[in-house]
Amino acid sequence: MRIDIITVSPDLIKSPFEFSIMKRAIDKQMAEVHFHDLRKFALNKYGKIDDYQFGGGAGMVLMIEPIDACISQLKKERDYDEIIYMTPDAPTLNQRTANTLSMAENILILCGHYKGVDHRIREMHITKEISIGDYVLSGGELGAVVLCDAIIRLIPGVLGDETSALTDSFQDDLLSPPVYTRPAEYKGMKVPEVLLSGNFPKIDDWRTEQALSRTESIRPDLL
Ligand code: ADE
Repeated sequence: MRIDIITVSPDLIKSPFEFSIMKRAIDKQMAEVHFHDLRKFALNKYGKIDDYQFGGGAGMVLMIEPIDACISQLKKERDYDEIIYMTPDAPTLNQRTANTLSMAENILILCGHYKGVDHRIREMHITKEISIGDYVLSGGELGAVVLCDAIIRLIPGVLGDETSALTDSFQDDLLSPPVYTRPAEYKGMKVPEVLLSGNFPKIDDWRTEQALSRTESIRPDLL
């Protein structure tokens, strides 16, 4: 999978790709991520990429010309399965969307900044809009990193058996059951007996029960 990210702050988001599972996927050549600095497509030598909004109001808006130039150039080089705009006024990211996007070959992500982008760019190029939650960040960059992490770990072969995504929370619309490791007792707190029993059908039943009861109490909306 190839992911292209258009941003005004490439340096802000490079390092998460140099660690853990995203690094592993990139090292194994299962994912490649390319950063495109929007300022390189600025209208003048001072790097102008934003302007005041028509109609008045606080906050600058990213201009249409630099974004169109950048996206058009990338589209000439390859076909994209999705061109995604990260913005709070969009459907919220969930595991289902991450699963679908993990099967894509080429994804382009546009990060908003300031007050957002000129709306015409959304009509012109964007095929999907994603929010990472009902709060406003300073820009779409951190959302783009969240999205990439959620997608990249699902690419077949990225996670080994020991970290399989199949048992993650949300894969079956339920939260995960609690997990424990050694020691079996710590400061008087014991690991649930059933997990030490070696009785795997019973352990499976316990995990399902726990997943259901945790979902019911913490996220009843998922049921
Ligand atoms: N940009 C600003 N806030 C955001 C959010 N909640 N999700 C995605 N992109 C954003």
